[in-house]
Amino acid sequence: MTLQFSSRAQRIEPFYVMEVAKAAQELARSVAATRDPMIFLNIGEPDFTAPPLVLEAAERALRAGQTQYTNALGLEALREAISGWYAQRFGVDVPARRIVVTAGASAALQLACLALIDRGDEILMPDPSYPCNRHFVSAAEGTAVLIPTTAEERFQLSADKVQAAWGAKTRGVLLASPSNPTGTSIAPDELRRIVDVVRARGGLTLIDEIYLGLSYEEQFGHTALALGEDVISINSFSKYFNMTGWRLGWMVVPDAMVPVVERMAQNLFICASTISQHAALACFAPSSIAEYERRRAEFKARRDYFIPELNRLGLSVPVMPDGAFYAWADCSAAAERLGVDGSWDFAYELMHRAHLAITPGHDFGSADTARHVRFSTANSMAQLQEAVARLQRLIG
Ligand SMILES: Cc1ncc(COP(=O)(O)O)c(C=O)c1O
Repeated sequence: MTLQFSSRAQRIEPFYVMEVAKAAQELARSVAATRDPMIFLNIGEPDFTAPPLVLEAAERALRAGQTQYTNALGLEALREAISGWYAQRFGVDVPARRIVVTAGASAALQLACLALIDRGDEILMPDPSYPCNRHFVSAAEGTAVLIPTTAEERFQLSADKVQAAWGAKTRGVLLASPSNPTGTSIAPDELRRIVDVVRARGGLTLIDEIYLGLSYEEQFGHTALALGEDVISINSFSKYFNMTGWRLGWMVVPDAMVPVVERMAQNLFICASTISQHAALACFAPSSIAEYERRRAEFKARRDYFIPELNRLGLSVPVMPDGAFYAWADCSAAAERLGVDGSWDFAYELMHRAHLAITPGHDFGSADTARHVRFSTANSMAQLQEAVARLQRLIG
């Protein structure tokens, strides 16, 4: 039987990050016993796992049989706890009634796109950006319009570019701050101007703030939710809270959108994982937050070590990341030194000759992605130091 797949399914390109990761895993097995086992700098998730109180809370929930469906919007206590976190950490009043708990930021993005985007609607996004975000738009039969960005713009959209690109079919913007793959945030004044431009056109501002908790500069670590109730923010327990596989996230939506998202979540997901929700309540205990802050300092220390080393090695990182755990490096000079052309071949050479797994820019857009690679610093300081030593030998 020949299956006929939908055009929707066919529009979704492979997530090459995962394909590269698979190739690296395979090679890792064959080089495991050599002097240079594989170092993974391609990973988009923290190398830490959930802290002890969170594990204990999950165990307690399991043993107590707290394993049935929850309300589609999430446990009331968890929505309250997230609301408290916004107040305490960001000084912003986000009422629990506007918080929707989801199966990761991925489900939140899916729900937001399905709730707001109609066939043919165009959503403006920066190039480079997280590949799945444009696929969520396309799954809702909208069109992601990628706008090339520059280092001067911190690889983010600017209000001028949003204004210039806005057309009859434009429905809004989908931003991510800090960004994957660049680790750079939108400057606060620029973000305010973008929101004003969008608002003046009756459009939507969707902002993926999944890396906001992992912010290293006071200047940038603010939530866009402070700019008004019409801003829709997506977040997650995956990154700052180190719970990627637990599949838990949330989004903050305007009051009027809550019943719509509730209806869709009831139908599409029923609810986010109940065990994960009970466990996540312990994320906000003072000792858990203290541990997360210690880990955030560790991520910052890695950034402060690794980015200057990349620059020194000719893998220029034009904007110092202010958050997340990524570096968006221009590999053209280093590739030339290796006698190869483009980020795909450069990543391949690094994987095979230095056993360093990194991510070619390809996934993240089309503008300048053949010149860029993404390094992830979600690995120990010792591994980062070893990676620098290998890069030094290969391209230094
Ligand atoms: C920018 C961005 N948004 C969303 C996600 C998806 O995260 P989650 O695990 O919460 O679904 C990721 C994961 O890497 C990401 O980098």
